[in-house]
Amino acid sequence: MTKTNTAVLISGNGSNLQALIDAAQEEDYPARIGLVISNKSEAYGLERAHKAGVPTVVINHKDYPDRASFDRAMHQQLLDHGIEFVCLAGFMRLLSGEFTRSWQGKMVNIHPSLLPKYKGLEAIKQAYDAGEKESGCTVHWVIEDMDAGEIIHQSPVPILPDDTLETLTQRVHQAEHEAYVAAVRKVLQ
Ligand code: GRF
Repeated sequence: MTKTNTAVLISGNGSNLQALIDAAQEEDYPARIGLVISNKSEAYGLERAHKAGVPTVVINHKDYPDRASFDRAMHQQLLDHGIEFVCLAGFMRLLSGEFTRSWQGKMVNIHPSLLPKYKGLEAIKQAYDAGEKESGCTVHWVIEDMDAGEIIHQSPVPILPDDTLETLTQRVHQAEHEAYVAAVRKVLQ
């Protein structure tokens, strides 16, 4: 089968990247991970990519005068590597309208809440502190507005009476890995 050449953009741990790398090893998975871009040189996800033999590029946003020029540098790397599809996986930079428009319909994100609830940072904690009965994760198309594009897949995760923020966070992350792999399969197939 022809696999879609996919980039994963990260800023940190990269456990979702790992799930995608592992899935892409399967012959019948519709993506191959052809590039990892991180805006942080210390992101652990870069090590995961190295171990898997995936090319990496670090583009430090602090080296660029503004968001637009940082985004243009990423765009150029994506083109240089023949990337056709982009997964944001814990990528902690807002993206410009120009960049999101260039990749519209070809870029997805995962967020640890049942959107449209709890956008932004510390989404699991927001749900936990609000006394919700369920948390979860959402994979969605990326548009310029943060955490707002059309939803592709949601996995609810119950918040149990004896959950701490840590136990809940662990289960949401686990759900994310399965959700991201399934959602990417769904849109690329
Ligand atoms: C995940 O919770 C994801 O939903 C959010 O950032 C976190 C990244 O985790 N956007 P990891 O780097 O994939 O482990």
